[in-house]
Amino acid sequence: MLLKVEDINVYYGAIHAIKGVSFEVEEGEIVTLIGANGAGKSTTLKTISGLLRSKTGSITFEDKDISAVQPHKLVAHGLAHVPEGRRVFLQMTVEENLEMGAYVKSAGVEEGLAKVYELFPRLRERRRQIAGTLSGGEQQMLAMGRALMSSPKLMMLDEPSMGLAPILVDQIFEIIQSLHKAGTTILLVEQNAQMALSVADRGYVLETGKVVKSADAQALLNDAAVKAAYLGG
Ligand SMILES: Nc1ncnc2c1ncn2[C@@H]1O[C@H](COP(=O)(O)OP(=O)(O)OP(=O)(O)O)[C@@H](O)[C@H]1O
Ligand SMILES: [Mg+2]
Repeated sequence: MLLKVEDINVYYGAIHAIKGVSFEVEEGEIVTLIGANGAGKSTTLKTISGLLRSKTGSITFEDKDISAVQPHKLVAHGLAHVPEGRRVFLQMTVEENLEMGAYVKSAGVEEGLAKVYELFPRLRERRRQIAGTLSGGEQQMLAMGRALMSSPKLMMLDEPSMGLAPILVDQIFEIIQSLHKAGTTILLVEQNAQMALSVADRGYVLETGKVVKSADAQALLNDAAVKAAYLGG
């Protein structure tokens, strides 16, 4: 198992946001966490990447316990997190942002850039542009490209389609699929459950901090309760 999350409980002060969540991601899979606003999806990703700590349980990545590792050190372990709201460095150029993604590795910057520009030709065209002037979709591409610079084994994507026009949503999902074909394992958090389940192998449904259902993506797409709650009937 590439990632194993076992019985995590996460609090924001007195608020119990994650209540005994367990799930796993196998190498080569696309796994999606779906759920309504406030269900705990982002909190779960932040806990995996060490930005928040669980009071219980364990998180193992490639059989190593990573639950006490500092966030910036996880990149070297092969874990990349593209947070909600595509935090890119707005004052820096596209290429400077990408170079920041590779900072842990002294070598491989040129190679990394070549790989990212192949996947996102738009970023190559705009490599000298200040990131703050990119469109929302371009910033999402940049955030994903920056994460790719570290050649992660597991990429965690938090709402990559948020706020994008339908045509860009399609593009982002195509890119997720190409990344996956190229060997990256993906943990995808989405409110667009329809799209997420259509690319995923398996999915987990989160409701108010708990996993209430887990199944093959196809089975979830056909599940009456999931349809009613997350797929617009
Ligand atoms: N910094 C914080 N302080 C207090 N409560 C928080 C904080 N961040 C999140 N929460 C609460 O924790 C719960 C889970 O939030 P989280 O952001 O993980 O949800 P989400 O599933 O990612 O939702 P969304 O789809 O809206 O992004 C929510 O009830 C939220 O209000
Ligand atoms: Mg969220």
